[in-house]
Amino acid sequence: VFLSLVFINFSFGYNIIKEMAMFKVTRVETTPFEGQKPGTSGLRKKVKVFIQPHYLQNFVQATFNALGVDRVKGATLVVSGDGRYYSKDAIQIITKMAAANGVRRVWIGQNGLLSTPAVSAVVRERVGADGSKATGAFILTASHNPGGPHEDFGIKYNMENGGPAPEGITNKIYENTTTIKEYVIAEGLPDVDISTTGVSSFDGPEGKFDVDVFDSTSDYLKLMKSIFDFPSIQELLSSPKFSFCYDALHGVAGVHAKRIFVEELGANESSLVNCVPKEDFGGGHPDPNLTYAKELVARMGLSKTHSEPNPPEFGAAADGDGDRNMVLGKRFFVTPSDSVAIIAANAVQAIPYFSGGLKGVARSMPTSAALDVVAKHLNLKFFEVPTGWKFFGNLMDAGMCSICGEESFGTGSDHIREKDGIWAVLAWLSILAYKNKDNLGGGNLVTVEDIVRQHWATYGRHYYTRYDYENVDAGGAKELMAHLVKLQSSIDEVNKIIKGIRSDVSNVVHADEFEYKDPVDGSVSKHQGIRYLFEDGSRLVFRLSGTGSEGATIRLYIEQYEKDSSKIGKDSQDSLAPLVEVALKLSKMQEYTGRSAPTVIT
Ligand code: G6P
Ligand code: ZN
Repeated sequence: VFLSLVFINFSFGYNIIKEMAMFKVTRVETTPFEGQKPGTSGLRKKVKVFIQPHYLQNFVQATFNALGVDRVKGATLVVSGDGRYYSKDAIQIITKMAAANGVRRVWIGQNGLLSTPAVSAVVRERVGADGSKATGAFILTASHNPGGPHEDFGIKYNMENGGPAPEGITNKIYENTTTIKEYVIAEGLPDVDISTTGVSSFDGPEGKFDVDVFDSTSDYLKLMKSIFDFPSIQELLSSPKFSFCYDALHGVAGVHAKRIFVEELGANESSLVNCVPKEDFGGGHPDPNLTYAKELVARMGLSKTHSEPNPPEFGAAADGDGDRNMVLGKRFFVTPSDSVAIIAANAVQAIPYFSGGLKGVARSMPTSAALDVVAKHLNLKFFEVPTGWKFFGNLMDAGMCSICGEESFGTGSDHIREKDGIWAVLAWLSILAYKNKDNLGGGNLVTVEDIVRQHWATYGRHYYTRYDYENVDAGGAKELMAHLVKLQSSIDEVNKIIKGIRSDVSNVVHADEFEYKDPVDGSVSKHQGIRYLFEDGSRLVFRLSGTGSEGATIRLYIEQYEKDSSKIGKDSQDSLAPLVEVALKLSKMQEYTGRSAPTVIT
């Protein structure tokens, strides 16, 4: 409307399109929506909820108000995500609201695509053409939840350190959503073309506003190159002995995978599966586990119904927003709990970024104790935190932790403040390259399976499995948890019940609800999952998921430690069967949920 001048400026061969349009600020009256409380990783709801008039706008304004004028006026905000359905509309809305709220610059990855770890990297590392640095980010994703018009959308805010907003801020956001009366939005600001890189500049009542659309992978790639020895990974990937496969499940990691694995490291294009991002993830569930990453699982020779004559030596998958990872060897599954332990055990030798030593390591409570054993052997600082990456972020900001991981297919390090799926793959490739540095010319390849078995032989093996009961009745799930808490008041009673179920499991010696006092800020997090700890080191953990969008999801984590190297080669479901039976009967799972089997077993 107030378009005063449009010109195109060719400098350094880079196309900077400056649209000097004027915009005004419009105030829009609104009323609160119920249930805009951000969960573990932001606000996640069905698309049909998000597309209600004012729904997204209320949440975004509530966020700006929670951040306060000082953090908003003049800010430089990254706005991007995993490309799921409704992202493109959301980017335009947020950009216009940012302009109206006095934000100075919005940075958008090309086509609105940036993995969650890439957003974190961009916030921490990218320098704009005018020398600017980002002050925060809106990440548009519902992570591993399905996408599409009938599925999930999500939004979360990350701070200047590149990590998720702390609870102090998310609580304020929620409070604001319950009282919101108006939001502001720019009128006369045209929709931004997010498919072409370049900076567009606009004039508002408070001065200039720039929209910078930039290449999605350059900054992230630069960071990865500063961490890993790319030439040695390249040598591994080009060896005829080695073969590689990466499945992005149609999520955003595909964009980064193509650039890093194929264009930079020379992997064959055919090693990429589902690496073109889709708004609905091809109708699939973009969660990298043995159930949902079906194609990869089949290619790697792990499918029960399909036999694969010659699977690749290494395979990996990512979730929708690219922060999760699953690592597989030829016909071999690496549990996420083992993965982080193995990365920690080899990092100093295999990854240049860690050559000076590790500051410490950490895992979430339900993650197996494989990492604990490594920490003990290597005399490293060790932390057990509640589920949720933000707890690691605090330790990292304080310089107390270098590598961390979770059973939920999350692994990462202090290079950013999110977990990082591609980083984990590069870490494994580095370890493989290191172990094979003298083998690529002659001799047998040291495989993923060899590395894991060697690790078990040295440190013992933590048999581990997780049972998920998705979308069960929320009332029933609560009752189940209450039942388990009540049982904890008498360990003798618990042991009597257990002996009645199976006589071949050891005694429970301790049971509690996990509670965590953050060593950095002293904050206390209660009710972080119910634990039953057994005399022989086995554990049963029960938790309610914090990331679902409908009903409740109960997670049951089962773990058993085996030090005896003659007993480390068993099938994990077989060796855990007695504990599984105890867990299901003790918790009265079927009674409370009406389910005779879990939705997913990992
Ligand atoms: C997200 C968080 C992780 C966390 C996971 C737990 O992915 O980033 O840190 O482990 O959610 O999900 P849950 O559904 O078990 O609460
Ligand atoms: Zn994710």
